[in-house]
Amino acid sequence: LTDSDRIRRSREMALVTNVCEYEELAKQKLPKMVYDFYAAGAEDQWTLRENSEAFSRILFQPRVLVDVSCIDMSTSILGYNISMPIMIAPTALHKLAHPEGRFIWNAGELATARAAAAAKTIMTLSSWSSCSIEEVNLAGPGIRFFQLSIYKDRNLVQQLIQRAEKAGYKAIVLTVDAPWLGRREADVKNRFTLPRNVMLKTFEGLDQGKIDKTNGSGLAAYVASQIDRSFSWKDIKWLQTVTSLPVLVKGIITAQDTRIAIECGVAGIIMSNHGGRQLDYLPATISCLEEVVREANGRVPVFIDSGFRRGTDVFKALALGASGVFIGRPVLFSLAVDGEAGVRNALRMLRDELEITMALSGCTSVKEITRGHVVTESDRI
Ligand code: FNR
Repeated sequence: LTDSDRIRRSREMALVTNVCEYEELAKQKLPKMVYDFYAAGAEDQWTLRENSEAFSRILFQPRVLVDVSCIDMSTSILGYNISMPIMIAPTALHKLAHPEGRFIWNAGELATARAAAAAKTIMTLSSWSSCSIEEVNLAGPGIRFFQLSIYKDRNLVQQLIQRAEKAGYKAIVLTVDAPWLGRREADVKNRFTLPRNVMLKTFEGLDQGKIDKTNGSGLAAYVASQIDRSFSWKDIKWLQTVTSLPVLVKGIITAQDTRIAIECGVAGIIMSNHGGRQLDYLPATISCLEEVVREANGRVPVFIDSGFRRGTDVFKALALGASGVFIGRPVLFSLAVDGEAGVRNALRMLRDELEITMALSGCTSVKEITRGHVVTESDRI
């Protein structure tokens, strides 16, 4: 870094007081095509906006004069102890945010994985990652889940699962809300293409027939065209026969689908509207959480993502029955601004915010956060 780079960076860092500010800084730093790819929602982006606005309709009902001198935020997810109920959602192509260059040993998902491990939390690796399953594992110890999409070529799916199992990933996160890719108009306008130095590394080494591997976009287009749009509930059984890992389904927002997923024997539900990137005019996940939790009725844990930007948002989800929260874009934007240190800082800020929210609500552990600590719109009717 030059001296002026250093001064600019320390000024920027001094100013970052919450994760949303990373988005502004990332917007200044990233090429427009990359920023738009990360930030955009589908079509009118109504769901994208609603994902943050819905939190402002849930208010707190704190308890005072509780001894809050010591706050324990640790929790257990599928039997793994983590430091806080905030985890990293699978997002594609971290090298677009943090390319190799001088960060070759710590580029893209490697930096994210190390930041997650330092925060003692779980990272979910996207199957559209720019570092391979094995490379991320070599980033060091850490609890990791592997996100799976289903391809027409079931051998490819099986190979991905086997590689994830061999590399020590602890669960399969099956994404169920993206059999077709949502229409993000910014990407269409920008004619989004992968730069030459960023590849879908998860697929490296697999037999992909005659695709243009000299160009990352050739591979991306190939992989997208290979998604099996016919995959349905009956095929979950097949998935369970080819892996011994627990399967979480990501992308459910209704009680009906929760019921079917539990009947199929999934290990957990991740409520998601894909951060507003798939079907527009879906409600915010936080607005549907209670319904899904009621249906799950403690049989499997319910996790949630989409729009979480504050410790207060996380507290609200825990109060409404979620077992943990995943975050997507804040990771990408903090990674873009300051690499591993940025993601560590983003996780630290969310953790600190959750800690103070718990303290000021009179909760000293995650278990003490109850439905009575929040008031929703339906309570006020
Ligand atoms: C995603 N998401 C996603 N989900 C998934 O299952 N596989 C993937 O490869 C990706 N890729 C991806 C890329 C980008 C740029 C974004 C923003 C999101 C969805 C992701 O896991 C998560 O559901 C949302 O990001 C959560 O919303 P927030 O936290 O970004 O608002």
